[in-house]
Order: sequence, then C-alpha cells, then structure tokens
Amino acid sequence: MADLSTEIKKRRTFAIISHPDAGKTTLTEKFLLYGKAINLAGSVKGKKTAKHAVSDWMEIEKERGISVTSSVMQFNYGGYCINILDTPGHQDFSEDTYRTLMAADSAVMVIDASKGVEKQTIKLFKVCVMRHIPIFTFINKMDREANDPFDLLDEIENVLGIRTCPINWPIGSGKSFKGVYERQENVVTTFKAAMNGQKEVETSRIEWNEANNKELVEHMGNDLYDKLTEDLELLDGASAEFNLSEVQAGDLTPVFFGSALTNFGVENFLQHFLKMTTSPLPRKSNIGEIDPFRPDFSAFVFKIQANMNKAHRDRIAFMRITSGKFEAGMEVNHVQGGRKVKLSQPQQMMAQERHIVEEAYAGDIIGVFDPGIFSIGDTLCSSNDKFEFEGIPTFAPEHFARVRQVDTMKRKQFVKGINQIAQEGAIQIFQEFNTGMEEIIVGVVGVLQFEVLQYRLENEYNVEIKLERLPYEHIRWVVSKDIDLNQISGTSDMKKIKDLKGNPLLLFANAWSPNMVLERNPGLELSEFGRN
Ligand code: G4P
Repeated sequence: MADLSTEIKKRRTFAIISHPDAGKTTLTEKFLLYGKAINLAGSVKGKKTAKHAVSDWMEIEKERGISVTSSVMQFNYGGYCINILDTPGHQDFSEDTYRTLMAADSAVMVIDASKGVEKQTIKLFKVCVMRHIPIFTFINKMDREANDPFDLLDEIENVLGIRTCPINWPIGSGKSFKGVYERQENVVTTFKAAMNGQKEVETSRIEWNEANNKELVEHMGNDLYDKLTEDLELLDGASAEFNLSEVQAGDLTPVFFGSALTNFGVENFLQHFLKMTTSPLPRKSNIGEIDPFRPDFSAFVFKIQANMNKAHRDRIAFMRITSGKFEAGMEVNHVQGGRKVKLSQPQQMMAQERHIVEEAYAGDIIGVFDPGIFSIGDTLCSSNDKFEFEGIPTFAPEHFARVRQVDTMKRKQFVKGINQIAQEGAIQIFQEFNTGMEEIIVGVVGVLQFEVLQYRLENEYNVEIKLERLPYEHIRWVVSKDIDLNQISGTSDMKKIKDLKGNPLLLFANAWSPNMVLERNPGLELSEFGRN
C-alpha cells in the first residue's frame, strides 16, 4: 500500500484562527495563489464583488451578506496536499468555529501587529491548547505601524500562555518597514515598495555580516541597523530556542512577521510551516489510538450543515477522514446509528468550487449527503470495524435566552424543530433545574445563532417563537458526580439548569462567580467544556 502511505504523508490539515480583520482571508488567499488554486487575489472574498460565492446556502446568509458556514479548501504546493479549514468569525462566530478546530492537526494564528492578541483569538487558542496541537503565529500587517515586536511576543506569552520562538525578526514597520532578519539563515530579506499583492513583493537577500555592512546600512539606514543589532542580542538571550518537538506538542509557537496584503513573507512562512507541522495525526478511540496509515477507512463527523435545499430539509455532514482511503459510493459502518450506510454525493471544496470527490485520504475533509441520521462526533468506519472516536466536546455558549412557541398548539413542531437544530449543533438546549420541559433555555456561542434559530423554526417548521434574552454569559458543566446541586452554596447571579440528559450545569452573569462558587463548595469540580 505504498500509494496510500505516500498520499497520507503529504497531507497537511490546518485551521486558520484570528480575530476578525487580522488578515486571515488575505493570508489564505495568498496560500491559494501559491497553490495555484486561484488565479487572482481577491477571489476568496472579493468583499465588494462576488461576496459569497463559497457559501450561499442559507437564506439568512444572503439576506445579511455574511457567511454562516465555514469552508474547507484543498490545494497542492511543494509536494504537499494542503487542507485549510476556515474558522468563521465576526457575527457568524459559533460552535462550528470551535468544532472546525477539532478536525485540524495544527493551527495558524494570525495576529494584527498593531492590535496584538485579541478576544476571539484567545477563545480559539484555548481550544487548540486543549488538543495540544501545534500553533504557528503569523504577525501580520508589518507594512503598517506596528507594536514593538518584543511587546507582541510578551503579550502572546502572557495572555495566551505559550512560549514563543521568532523565526524571523522585523526591521521597522509601517512606512519604514525594511524587511525581516531570518534567524536560522542569518540573512536579511528586504522589503521594498509594496506591490498590489498579486505576486510576492520584490525582495532580495543580504547576508548579515561585516562584509555586507555598507549594503545593509544603505538598505535600512543607521538607526534601524543599530536597532536590529541590539534586538538580535536581546533575542538570543531572551527568546526560547527552537525545538521541533516542543512545537509539535503545542508548547512553543514559531513566530513569523510579515504582511499578507503585500505578500511579504507569506511563501517563506508556508514553507517553514509545512516542514514543521505534521502529517495527519492518530486519533483517540474506545479501542485506543487509530493510526491514520491503517488501510481501513475511518472518519468522524465534526459539522453538520443544514438547509442546503429547503424543500428537502437535507443536510450535509462534514467529516474528517482519520484513516485509510475513502472511495465514492463506499458502504461504511455508521457506528452510533448501528447500521451500514452508503456515503453518497461526497463533496470537497477546491478554492471556491464544490466538486464531487472520487477518492480522499486520511487528513482530508469531505461533506456527504445526510438524510438526518448523523450527529456531531459520530464515527464512520469500514464495515469490519465498530469502534468509536472520542466525542467532540460541547463548547461553552456565551448567550442565553428563554424560548417558547407563540401558538401553544404548535408545541410538537416546536419541540421537534428545536431538537433537530440542537442535534446539528447550532444551538444547545437546556431546561430549568427543577421543572420539566415547559421552558426551554437556549445557549449559543454567537448571537447570530438566535436569529438563525428563529428564522429556521419559522421557515422550516412553521413555528413562531418568542425569545427572551437572559443575563448569563458563563456556563460550567458540573464534573463531580456526587455533588447535590440543591445543596451547593451559590452566588446571587447563579442559575442552575440541566441538559436534556439531566446533567446539571451552572450559569453565571459574572466572570468571577464560578471561582467564588468553587471556593465555597469544596469538592465541587466545574468544566468549561462538556462531553456529549
Ligand atoms: P479577516 O479575514 O481576518 O477578517 O481579515 P481580511 O483578510 O479580510 O483583512 C482585513 C483587512 O485588513 C482588509 O482590508 C485587508 O486588505 C487588510 N489587510 C490584510 N492583511 C494586510 C496587511 O498585511 N497589510 C495591510 N496594510 N492590510 C492588510 P479592508 O479594507 O477591510 O478590506 P478590503 O476592502 O481591502 O478587502
């Protein structure tokens, strides 16, 4: 099976995370240009032109002109087959954004050099840390006035709690940006005037040594030359040594400075990244780790996209292939469903186009037609197997609302609709702790999901709802089994709820309350992630 192993070895599957506007789309676009998957910059998200070519399935997306779905893009570069998972941002930030990270083997974190570490990056970073996947940092927009690079590294280390190892070092920023010093090669890559970003900016490489002093000073000027000399001394003393195994364990992040828009430092980053990151990693299951190179196919569902065709209420289940090879039309074991299924209409994204795949390998992401049988976290494996992958955690919603149907006669449709939407993972549903199903409390990660819920219940289930927002923003799953929730000493802003399986949870309005409750109740254990 040389073929299988060659194919899998060349796969690199990663997610790009950032706070909106840091330059995630611009960077992705430049990657795709290098992979020749697109011809022109501006085609991934021509903001003002063909805005939502990639995903215009849901009416709500069209109406609001935003993308609710996350997409996967595959391209080839330098002998690698690369899958980029885009994590939706802005208002369409949702649990899907987090779940996408469960399908990746590493993450690229884009940081705006003038803003530093921002809120959404912190949230996504936490999920990467939970999974111990390698994280690569691209500090973007060096062609604009930037924060001091040492301060940026300090911030990453202090706010995110990961050690940093700069692979290159910026020389100035904004109008006086002169390029970067490549630490491993002892070379300065020069930045001259910005081109329009379609091609990489014109650069030259000057070795950093005595003999080239004149040329170096001519390029960057005396002040920047002195500053760089000083910076490099400081760096050698202060920054962590590069260590590949620490990078691969997610303990050390290699840092690159560049400018996605002007296409400076992007290809260099891509090349280093591809070398430092790994091919598809094994995944935990109830029979131990599943090796990606194992010839038998296996995959898990990490995202369900509903409503591709309203008339049929059909869905697409996105799965990450975890071992072996997938072939179109293949019959597999759907473990949680307890039956064999044929994976029909398998699709893959290639830049903007959706096309039918004939074959795919461990590391790849495919979307298959789902007649309503799959749930998030489900395992699919070859017909001889019957194991289950470790489930996907439930991520903490940050917005809550009490929801009820306007027309009491429509209770049945309401319950059915809200349960189906919850099964797709777009919302989480809870109940009051001591009462029945009368009142439903809905929790969402991004507020847009409330609108999606309202819209879908009306359009697909013909149920009008009333939504009353609740003041809570923090949720904790109760981990300790032997704690009686009726007995615990809470805070005034705390609310007890339960999930549909009866598991207890706590809601809080204030960020500091969970710790107070922990202090007041020895033995109580709380978690920010839930297990299905
Ligand atoms: P996002 O996906 O992370 O939300 O960010 P996106 O790539 O859309 O970039 C946000 C804005 O920042 C865009 O400008 C983009 O052109 C700009 N940008 C990205 N990388 C760089 C960079 O390296 N240098 C500079 N100077 N700007 C950069 P916009 O005006 O909001 O959008 P557009 O109209 O240019 O598309």
